[in-house]
Amino acid sequence: MSNVEQPFVVQEQALDRDCTTLSRHVLQQLHSFSADAQDLSAIMNRIALAAKLIARRLSRAGLLEGVLGFTGDVNVQGESVKKMDVYANDVFISVFKQSGLVCRLASEEMEKPYYIPENCPIGRYTLLYDPIDGSSNVDININVGSIFAIRQQEGTDENQTGGDLLQNGRKQIAAGYVLYGPSTMLVYSIGTGVHAFTLDPSLGEFILSSENIQIPNHGPIYSVNEGNFWQWEEPLRDYIRYVHRQEGYTARYGGALVGDIHRILFQGGVFLYPGTVKKPEGKLRLLYESAPLAFLIEQAGGRASTGTEDILDVVPNAIHARSPLLIGSKEDVTLVESFIQKRAWDEDKNAIARSRVPQ
Ligand code: AHG
Ligand code: MN
Ligand code: MN
Repeated sequence: MSNVEQPFVVQEQALDRDCTTLSRHVLQQLHSFSADAQDLSAIMNRIALAAKLIARRLSRAGLLEGVLGFTGDVNVQGESVKKMDVYANDVFISVFKQSGLVCRLASEEMEKPYYIPENCPIGRYTLLYDPIDGSSNVDININVGSIFAIRQQEGTDENQTGGDLLQNGRKQIAAGYVLYGPSTMLVYSIGTGVHAFTLDPSLGEFILSSENIQIPNHGPIYSVNEGNFWQWEEPLRDYIRYVHRQEGYTARYGGALVGDIHRILFQGGVFLYPGTVKKPEGKLRLLYESAPLAFLIEQAGGRASTGTEDILDVVPNAIHARSPLLIGSKEDVTLVESFIQKRAWDEDKNAIARSRVPQ
């Protein structure tokens, strides 16, 4: 190649990169302009719009009235609701109104699914979402996120309870999160790998920044709220004691799952939210927190488990059901599981030994 041609090639590459927007990327991934591919691309584009609206409000939160603090209400989870939780919840509803794409939305902040009846004859998709993940970080201007998953509605759901949503995470068509940090990023998968986009504020577009992300098989980070140590079961404490005695581990915990998982996706390690005495099933909700993140992390070559079962195999018994979560690098999740399984095995062995002692 001559020196004269080179600047044009460089410029073309830069332009190609700048034009790889989220909706275009979805179509490229599906190698198709079919109606289904167009739907999915349009849905992702709407999610991107919601992310931009939320990012805009967060970026000026300290300057505006009525953005920070609590509403005074308690949600269906028994948790105090923040004003940003309500705003972000409504943003997702608004962007899908009259879109013809999503018939139903289910979120952490709503007891029952929200129907958009005018969309239902056309779009049979359901959006499951956590509008603001890590809302305790909002008032102190630290990173928060949004988590989402898309499922196909099955049946007519006549009494509008969302019964067909009580299926395992392998039913998800797409999943992802938005991280509102120093820059706003959207990470998604439609079952063809995991891809990250960064919001370019000058363009108002999410532009591809990392394609086909692979999580390291092992990483140095362990991310868990150690303040709950005495509330955990013994195998989890054994694992943490093990980590404390090994060289090469480092603790990172931000109080917002999205940020903690994002770090682990790129650098490797494990995030844990096990059952506690107060919450035996843990804190995190399957349908709009654990299952979407499990879908992503598996797509990136990692693992997500309850300790005894893959998260994607768990069938929730209610829309807001919770489950323990161990998620991250394959080797690290498997190691935590081995502590849980070893303890169960030791207990079995002791029970057998006891039953053999002559009475
Ligand atoms: P949310 O703000 O959606 O209720 O989620 C908060 C979650 C999660 O983001 C985070 O990892 C975890 O709660 C933190 O809980 P602890 O304060 O109990 O560690
Ligand atoms: Mn959350
Ligand atoms: Mn939330």
